[in-house]
Amino acid sequence: MRRPMVAGNWKMHGTRASVAELTEGLGNLSLPAGVEVAVFPPALFVTEVINGLQGKGIIVGAQNSAIQPEQGALTGEVAPSQWAEVGCKLVLIGHSERRQIIGETDEVLNRKFAAAQAGGLTPVLCVGETLEEREAGKTLEVVGRQLSSIIDACGVKALANAVIAYEPVWAIGTGLTATPQQAQDVHAAIRAQLQVLDAEVADNMRLLYGGSVKAANAAELFGMPDIDGGLIGGASLNADEFGAICRAAGH
Ligand code: 13P
Repeated sequence: MRRPMVAGNWKMHGTRASVAELTEGLGNLSLPAGVEVAVFPPALFVTEVINGLQGKGIIVGAQNSAIQPEQGALTGEVAPSQWAEVGCKLVLIGHSERRQIIGETDEVLNRKFAAAQAGGLTPVLCVGETLEEREAGKTLEVVGRQLSSIIDACGVKALANAVIAYEPVWAIGTGLTATPQQAQDVHAAIRAQLQVLDAEVADNMRLLYGGSVKAANAAELFGMPDIDGGLIGGASLNADEFGAICRAAGH
């Protein structure tokens, strides 16, 4: 049985005041026991959020980490081992905003994925197609290639310690959600790609859906057989809305 996960990606949002309020709100939620809940605050608030959520059963992750596992001369970056030392457990790798806006290539992401694991973090690998790619019928090809890149570089066994998030770029922050069937089709294809290489990794892999998930559409998405939870952007900035999404992932 895969344990569902619901994770909130706060992106580059928040002030000291809003983060304190959100952290307090999260701490007051009653969360379903069977669901793993995580948040990814902006880097500068991570330690504050870890302290604020002490004992609340919510995991904290980093939105980005360096291409090498250990500390060193790399201006502006944070090493996976440094994140791990302050209490982070997860890191997002390959979010479309970093692929497209920052220009992170597959080669950089492969290094970040390997470094994250070597430094003690579990990567949450994000994959997804643009609208243009979907309309050209290339969704499965694009997502398959993004996943193959990591498998070729790190080996399929490395995915035993990872989570995959399917986030169609056209659904992120747009209010356009993939239909449950559209999302399920891609999730099933991802699992099938893994199945050919390693049945155990495929069966245990948690596949999260991301892209305009809110309390109103979460249960329907999470009800699909290959959707094991969600990666939530905008709706995770409101504690009550996020709590409702977490409860929708409970059995
Ligand atoms: P939204 O939920 O705001 O569409 O963002 C999804 C996302 O990018 C999570 O990583």
